[in-house]
Amino acid sequence: MRRITLTQYLIEQQRASGSVTSELRLLIEVVARACKAISHAVGKGALADVLGGAGSDNVQGEAQKKLDLISNEILIEANEWGGHLAAMVSEEMERPHVMPDTGRKGGFLLLVDPLDGSSNIDVNVSIGTIFSVLRSPPEGGAPDEKAFMQPGSKQVAAGFAVYGPQTILVLTVGNGTVGFTLDREIGSFVMTQPNIRIPADTAEYAINSSNARNWDVPVKRYIDECLAGKAGVRGKDFNTRWIASMVADVYRIITRGGIFMYPRDAKYKDGRLRLMYEANPMAMIVEQAGGAATDGKTRILDIQPTALHQRTGVVLGSKNEVERVASYFS
Ligand code: AHG
Ligand code: MN
Ligand code: MN
Repeated sequence: MRRITLTQYLIEQQRASGSVTSELRLLIEVVARACKAISHAVGKGALADVLGGAGSDNVQGEAQKKLDLISNEILIEANEWGGHLAAMVSEEMERPHVMPDTGRKGGFLLLVDPLDGSSNIDVNVSIGTIFSVLRSPPEGGAPDEKAFMQPGSKQVAAGFAVYGPQTILVLTVGNGTVGFTLDREIGSFVMTQPNIRIPADTAEYAINSSNARNWDVPVKRYIDECLAGKAGVRGKDFNTRWIASMVADVYRIITRGGIFMYPRDAKYKDGRLRLMYEANPMAMIVEQAGGAATDGKTRILDIQPTALHQRTGVVLGSKNEVERVASYFS
């Protein structure tokens, strides 16, 4: 079978559509290279003394792990060198990081969750990197927070890497969702999933059920109906999966279907996951693969952001199940 690399895929997209410019293509390659470096650090683990806490908190008061900070540094360094960004937002930084003005300041904004699934780092369970690309508004000067306040529908590219048994890169440039596996011998991401499609139906759901007492009525109803199995209104048995790394849960869903839920609840009134660098990129990837993504009431990609680190409820995956949950909310 003839397999193409990430570089070849991007060049082919550029030739075919014109929507992938050379600058966007080079930016995605810089991010992919950073993911390779993060994958390498993750793979070393205790051998490189990268496990454990960093002894600091991020802007949302969450304890940072050493690998959260290492991954953030790798992404900054790669993109400062790359020169395709005007600024970058990260879960690990309170304010946008404006790129040094070396004369190579680029036309894009990058938003990243440098390492997703921090609670899984030290226990050798899959973790990953999530990224979203927006155009930098044309107004002159260094981009401020306002420049980032664009709904997810404006993303020009979105992707995530999973550092698991294999290192995988999932990507969309708005023309379907594709997947690459890192070939460690040749050092390239090689296309292994040329056309990812999420089955519309599923019998697998992902939710942290330790929050059950806090759920809203629609969520309770949906999960109760799943739990009732064959004898209940759904007429079939369901299975639970919760990895606690969104990258790994979403990767499973784009591979074999499923629904992922981190809804707003009585404890997480605004939701738990971040809109700009978790929900938005995952929503674009899932929609481009034929799935759906909502906060319960609004399509994730239509939400107008008002803050860099704002949270949202998330329900995404197999279309028919997501629509069912949305119908319970309305
Ligand atoms: P992060 O490690 O970047 O803070 O994100 C973790 C997120 C997400 O990956 C996962 O789905 C969720 O938090 C897990 O939450 P619980 O610990 O509540 O299960
Ligand atoms: Mn995360
Ligand atoms: Mn993170």
